[in-house]
Amino acid sequence: MSISRLSVTNLRNIGSAELLPCSGVNLIVGPNGSGKTSLLEAIYLLGRARSFKSNKSAVFVRSGEKEATVYGEVNALASLPPVTIGVSKTLDGRHQLKVAGSFVSNTAALLELVPIQLIEPDTFKLLSSGPNYRRQFVDWGVFHVEHVFFDVWQRLNRCLKQRNKLLRRGKIERSVLAVWDDEFVQYAATLTEQRERYIEQLKPCFYRLLSELVAEDLCGIEIDFYQGWRANTSLSEVLSAGLESDLKRGFTQAGPHRADLRVRYLGQNAADLLSRGQQKLVICALKIAQGYLFSKSTGRTCIYLLDDLAAELDEVFRERLCKLLSTLDCQLFITSVDEQLFSRSWPSMDVKVFHVKQGELE
Ligand SMILES: Nc1ncnc2c1ncn2[C@@H]1O[C@H](COP(=O)(O)OP(=O)(O)O)[C@@H](O)[C@H]1O
Ligand SMILES: [Mg+2]
Repeated sequence: MSISRLSVTNLRNIGSAELLPCSGVNLIVGPNGSGKTSLLEAIYLLGRARSFKSNKSAVFVRSGEKEATVYGEVNALASLPPVTIGVSKTLDGRHQLKVAGSFVSNTAALLELVPIQLIEPDTFKLLSSGPNYRRQFVDWGVFHVEHVFFDVWQRLNRCLKQRNKLLRRGKIERSVLAVWDDEFVQYAATLTEQRERYIEQLKPCFYRLLSELVAEDLCGIEIDFYQGWRANTSLSEVLSAGLESDLKRGFTQAGPHRADLRVRYLGQNAADLLSRGQQKLVICALKIAQGYLFSKSTGRTCIYLLDDLAAELDEVFRERLCKLLSTLDCQLFITSVDEQLFSRSWPSMDVKVFHVKQGELE
């Protein structure tokens, strides 16, 4: 899939900008603070209806204005005419989504239409922060390949909320709790099966890509799925055994909401051992692997947003990464302060360069 037209109004320092991206590499170049990341945020808004930098809408809307708006013409499938998507965000955090001229209420529709992979400085959290980010990473993949994922995920979270509410109430009827537990266990099994299936596909693809990026270095990297409770034990037994402790804490301590994709290097937490540059390569391999699996199972491609791609990487790794990205055959949006860094990186792809200065495209 690709975006063939993008129009941005009152987003951060961008008053108004209009882009006609190519379906290959779109290099966004400009000095610090010119608006490069803001343009990526605009594209992200089209697919997610939120920013990747902040949860506060007020900082997103250009100061002095009331609303930020992004319009995009999206080619979801080559065989179909482009779809127009409009997302606007007001100062108080409300958003309005329009797909092909009609208002839509849920962001899942956008997620499906505009699948985005983002690699930016904060993506380091995928390795260095808690399981939350890695769970979201896994679930992005599962969402796009398993049709019933979203429904199961929503139902599971509803059960979890109800169970936690009961736990906090303290005095609970065991029979009422048992009803929620049964449902919780049932959805947990389906969700976990889907996640496991996905990770089994991800693993070989990730290892292959990583070895192409780093050659024999980092061959001690391993990824492993943790389902959210001890392997080979039944969740319903774990819930029963942990009930007293859950009651004390007021929340459910075991289940798929605790799942993780553990990334280890030589048996230890990878983020504790690897350099920033090495971490970036591992993260890129994970995200590119996800793009491959997405294409394989849907016949579509996703869009890659790569903010400050060159940061932390020397020339050798930068060139290997660019080569790998070009094999994806996806639309790429890459920001850089220096255009020259990528002058020889894309011999076989369409390249379009956009120069940004003080929020304006030149
Ligand atoms: N709500 C806002 N209104 C106006 N300007 C903003 C707003 N939020 C951020 N900025 C400014 O927008 C500029 C662009 O930032 P950014 O896109 O991160 O730059 P780059 O990625 O090119 O370094 C910064 O100078 C920042 O101060
Ligand atoms: Mg930036």
